[in-house]
Amino acid sequence: MEPLQGERAREQARQLNSAPRRRTALIVDDCATLHAMMRDVLEPEYDCESVTSAEEAISVASRQTPDVIISDVVMEGTDGFELCRRIRADRRLHEIPLILLTSNPDPDGRATGLEEGADDYLSKPFRPRELLARVRSLVRLREARQEVLRQNRALERAHEELLTAQRQLLDAERLATLGMLATGLAHEINNPLAVVWAGFEQINESIRPEMALAPPKPEETAEIDEIRGEVRSGLERIRGIAQKLALLAAPEDNRRAPVSVHAEIDRAVAIARARLEQVELKRRFEGPQAIQAVPGYLTQILAQVLINAADAVALVRHPRIEIRTRRAEDGIEIVVEDNGVGISAEVVPQIFDPFFTTKAAGQGSGLGLAICQRLIQRLGGSAHVASQVGRGTQFRLWVPLEPPGVDKALRPRR
Ligand SMILES: Nc1ncnc2c1ncn2[C@@H]1O[C@H](COP(=O)(O)OP(=O)(O)O)[C@@H](O)[C@H]1O
Ligand SMILES: [Mg+2]
Repeated sequence: MEPLQGERAREQARQLNSAPRRRTALIVDDCATLHAMMRDVLEPEYDCESVTSAEEAISVASRQTPDVIISDVVMEGTDGFELCRRIRADRRLHEIPLILLTSNPDPDGRATGLEEGADDYLSKPFRPRELLARVRSLVRLREARQEVLRQNRALERAHEELLTAQRQLLDAERLATLGMLATGLAHEINNPLAVVWAGFEQINESIRPEMALAPPKPEETAEIDEIRGEVRSGLERIRGIAQKLALLAAPEDNRRAPVSVHAEIDRAVAIARARLEQVELKRRFEGPQAIQAVPGYLTQILAQVLINAADAVALVRHPRIEIRTRRAEDGIEIVVEDNGVGISAEVVPQIFDPFFTTKAAGQGSGLGLAICQRLIQRLGGSAHVASQVGRGTQFRLWVPLEPPGVDKALRPRR
């Protein structure tokens, strides 16, 4: 039996808690007859407290925070207008609805009352239904306002929480990127470092004290030269990775100058020349000659794309690469197309990731396209790739004629 009773008691308590609270009304009038008349009207719905002066009203209101105050205007001592002013000036009470009630025939009284902050102004003798209706309406209005404020605060809290969550996500993403960078970097540098280290040990071992007396044998010299070559290539790889990383992390460059697209393409071809010896290279320039950009960015971007294209066509019977430019919207489109091995669809989404490479250790660092992506974004442009395995790849770069955010006042006159 006991648990059931306990359950019932809890249910009763729950109902009690959720039962609507009775509102309270504070009546302020120096005439006791009026107290009784107003209580008759209000008491069926409101718990009424009545006082005979504004001073008393302030002290009761401070203690009980009524839901509505109905006050006479003309009273001994502090009058209704002053009560109104003081209630509105009090941070804890200023939201309580206040109705002024007066028998004063002064035609300006209504305006004064409303100016002092009263929510309504009724004349005596009052009509009971009207008084009740006004009290109800003001109380409802205030409660609706409080509800809106509550919801606003809840929304603000939710918004704050969302912002915090977003910041945490960004931090996590940054950490993940950093982790990926660190892992890739460790892996990339470890391979050439192992070569350098092994070579260093071997050279150390092969340098014997007798060498000072007798010159090394020719086969020993050849071996040392071979090891030296390996050490040098290992060191060059480490230097290359460090340079590319520096490029990737380089601070934003806000220099803008007229840049000759064709000259930058030529410089990129010159950088990749060693790998393009066997390749039939075509150029078709139909786009604008010059754009506003950071000088050198296009060269770096195109050099990476061309080196990749050269790698892709390395084993093809008739290797071909074509570079085309054309005007596209407010920019220039530069297409680099090869007839190489192509990229499989599942790999395409990863090719711009730092350290992503399909090339053998020592062949690719996986930083080329990550650098391209970074630089092209800084130019306000974009890069797209279309590829078919076994047929070839097309890199489409788009760069605006003028980067976004160029201050027109600083732009050189044409
Ligand atoms: N033109 C291309 N043809 C085929 N595959 C390409 C081409 N360009 C890029 N890729 C693929 O994208 C990968 C990433 O390129 P990149 O960032 O330059 O690094 P890396 O050249 O050092 O591997 C390459 O390993 C390769 O798999
Ligand atoms: Mg590359």
